[in-house]
Amino acid sequence: MIWAKKLTDIQPFYVMEVLRRAKELVAQGRDIVRLEVGEPNFSTPPPIIKAAHQALEKDQTNYTLAQGSLPLRKRISKWYGEQYGVDVSENRIIITSGTSGAFMLAFGIILDPGDRFAITDPGYPCYKNMIRLLGGQPVQIPVGPDSQYQLNASLLAPELKKGLRGGLITSPSNPTGTLINDTAFTQVVELIEGGGGVVVSDEIYHGITYGKSAKTALEFSDKAIVINGFSKYFAMTGWRLGWMIVPHDALGAVEMLQQNMFISASTIAQHAALAAFDCTDNFANQLKKYDINRVYLIDSLQKLGFDISVEPMGAFYIYANIANLLAKCDIENSQIFCERLLEEAGVAVTPGLDFGSFGAKEHLRFSYATDFERIKEGVIRIAKFLE
Ligand SMILES: Cc1ncc(COP(=O)(O)O)c(C=O)c1O
Repeated sequence: MIWAKKLTDIQPFYVMEVLRRAKELVAQGRDIVRLEVGEPNFSTPPPIIKAAHQALEKDQTNYTLAQGSLPLRKRISKWYGEQYGVDVSENRIIITSGTSGAFMLAFGIILDPGDRFAITDPGYPCYKNMIRLLGGQPVQIPVGPDSQYQLNASLLAPELKKGLRGGLITSPSNPTGTLINDTAFTQVVELIEGGGGVVVSDEIYHGITYGKSAKTALEFSDKAIVINGFSKYFAMTGWRLGWMIVPHDALGAVEMLQQNMFISASTIAQHAALAAFDCTDNFANQLKKYDINRVYLIDSLQKLGFDISVEPMGAFYIYANIANLLAKCDIENSQIFCERLLEEAGVAVTPGLDFGSFGAKEHLRFSYATDFERIKEGVIRIAKFLE
């Protein structure tokens, strides 16, 4: 069977290959230090699980409204007041199947065939694939340490001249863990919206920051589409629940797509998520652990010769330049480095290739969402490997 031609433009998620091989090695009895995973290493807090049980006992097993359950939308609306001091009506909130579901809806209402949409390179790999699948054209703008791996006016302006339907901000970013500063945020919003485009803000790593909190795009614009979810800060990856906040005039279109593509998000997950907002103590404890891991891993990697030129202040990732290590070890690129590190040292990390092409061959992403002792073990093994 020949499947759709558009699939030739979609790329696999390489970290899944690392994951598959790591699991294969574990099955063969090898001990693998997992620094490639992009999800919290602690379980969903018990009150959330209890709320799910209670919902099931009360037979809450039907669809919800396409827009999502009203109590959950009200709670999210309150959260925006508490966290950011912004007033968001529950009528502008749509509950989605993870942020991944929200992206399909957002790109679905924004893009017509051929529309150009700006994203960063490096950036979260699924954006470009979803944009392509929906007929749009991802415009991957190379970003480096000088702009904290984020967009700004001078990076965006040349692409804007060629026409942009919109642009995406991810702060904190995957894979770099960096945040956009207020000046750049303002510039990006003004430039894109000034040109009639739409700003989409991926705020999935909000709450996981180690200094200044991340700002929501709603502090800069009431026209932006904000996407967030329960996977990372709330430690609910497997529940597949997210939300989006859209301008009033987009609501009808989003609801229509949601009805057609997903009907509604998981009912059980929506009931469970209501309890998530009362688990902030659990999340604060976890954040302290991430921060200990972060500081230790940055320091250890730098001592081993990894170049981390912008301190990652959010998410749970470190994006390291390994150009000098590749030369020292006579290894061709970061992909081969990853393969050898996994096979020879038993440490799984993600190659830069997953996140774009700009500098990809000389970068690696480390995730420190794992136990401190395992990170220490990983560092010992990496040091031996480099010898
Ligand atoms: C930047 C970014 N956005 C979105 C997602 C998807 O998250 P969800 O589990 O909400 O679909 C991820 C997952 O790793 C991510 O890193």
